[in-house]
Amino acid sequence: MSSYLISGGRPLNGQLHVHGSKNAALPIIAASLLYQGVTVIRGCPDILDVRYMIKILRSIGCGVVYQDDMLQIDASEICLENISRECIGKMRSSILLLGAALGRCRHMTLDYPGGCTIGARPVDIHLKALEQMGVHIEEVDGAIHCETEGLSGARIVLPYPSVGATENLMMAGAMAEGITWIQNAAKEPEVSDLAGFLSAMGVSIYGAGTDRIGILGKCSLHHTEYRVMSDRIVAGTYLLAVAGTGGEIELLNVAEQHMHCLLHLCEAMGCEVRMTEKGVRLKSARRLFAVEDIHTQPFPGFPTDMQSQLMAVLATARGESVIYEHIFENRFRTAGELQKMGADIQIKNNRAVIRGVRKLKGCHVSARDLRGGAALVIAGLMAEGDTIVENSIFVERGYQDICKDLTQLGAEIRHSRDAREG
Ligand code: EPZ
Repeated sequence: MSSYLISGGRPLNGQLHVHGSKNAALPIIAASLLYQGVTVIRGCPDILDVRYMIKILRSIGCGVVYQDDMLQIDASEICLENISRECIGKMRSSILLLGAALGRCRHMTLDYPGGCTIGARPVDIHLKALEQMGVHIEEVDGAIHCETEGLSGARIVLPYPSVGATENLMMAGAMAEGITWIQNAAKEPEVSDLAGFLSAMGVSIYGAGTDRIGILGKCSLHHTEYRVMSDRIVAGTYLLAVAGTGGEIELLNVAEQHMHCLLHLCEAMGCEVRMTEKGVRLKSARRLFAVEDIHTQPFPGFPTDMQSQLMAVLATARGESVIYEHIFENRFRTAGELQKMGADIQIKNNRAVIRGVRKLKGCHVSARDLRGGAALVIAGLMAEGDTIVENSIFVERGYQDICKDLTQLGAEIRHSRDAREG
């Protein structure tokens, strides 16, 4: 089991370039199936979830070349029969293949992408909407069997602005007869990035970034080269790591409009934040202030993917902070690990009360999910003494090389292989 060994208590300082976004790259890779030819995606992060997606695409017959951060996908011929069930099971985002694949192959069987530690994560919204577009769906023995005579445009009102369902329907709409309208669509920047890619491919798509998206289907598609947006959650994670440890950072390749909510929160905690021509600069305060009533919300609200990292930073802020998690029903699991480090956190239903303590103590903790793992790395950097964060594989799903990045900022952090060598 691989781990991170962290020697904490040092302020972090320096400059970092933020890699491409996991949550933009994954739907864009799925959308490359729409075009029967070669697509080039640049700025693709080298993370486990991208590697899983590449394995899935290769298992259905795509030619895939991945060099530095450039992904070249040849989807001229695909056959869904041999789809890699091992990778499907490892990654929930495999559900994103449904919309594009049904447009190409008219039938697909996908293992039910089970939940994960942050929640049950059903896919009912995806499936009900695809049925409206002419897909017949049967769920048998944990698998989802989908058949269609051909996708048809529909007027779909989502019961919840699901990011994945919005993205799936954008891809299905690109292959459908007529126009598809998605109302109560997700407005996340990653949805807009997918729309940018689809439009570059030749799809007529309107309204991405708003709650109403229209897609004209059956446009003629062509070869595309596209650069993925930077990862706003990785950027936010590093900003909070500096806020929590004291110090100063300049993050390059960051879009301010993707980070407003978090940047305002950092200022409310006492940090100095300003935009530079290259990105964003943050200077931490000696001791941060607590922040009351933080609610995770769909974009542009405070992102649920930053909730665990913020909880770690507030563990030593001055005063009492309250975080409400409204998106995933089980996303407070990291609190237990932070309590082992001396944090004073009380959880009741979807509400976490964090009373700031002077210092966290380094100890042996276990990551249980991607962002919870990143939060424990931040806590280890803030703590006095050494911390071991087990199950680093969770973090490697979404951070290209967190050790290299944090070491560049002056952190003392090593990966399990080095740790075992002593
Ligand atoms: C995307 O997941 C992201 N993943 C998540 O990031 C992110 O936390 C989430 O959006 C919310 O912003 C990717 O983009 C790959 P949802 P997704 O559909 O699409 C419920 C990370 O750490 N729901 O917006 O799965 C669901 O249970 C990951 O990078 C249904 O009930 O999120 C949840 O409570 C974690 N039925 C809520 O909606 C459905 O059919 C939000 O889910 C679909 C969703």
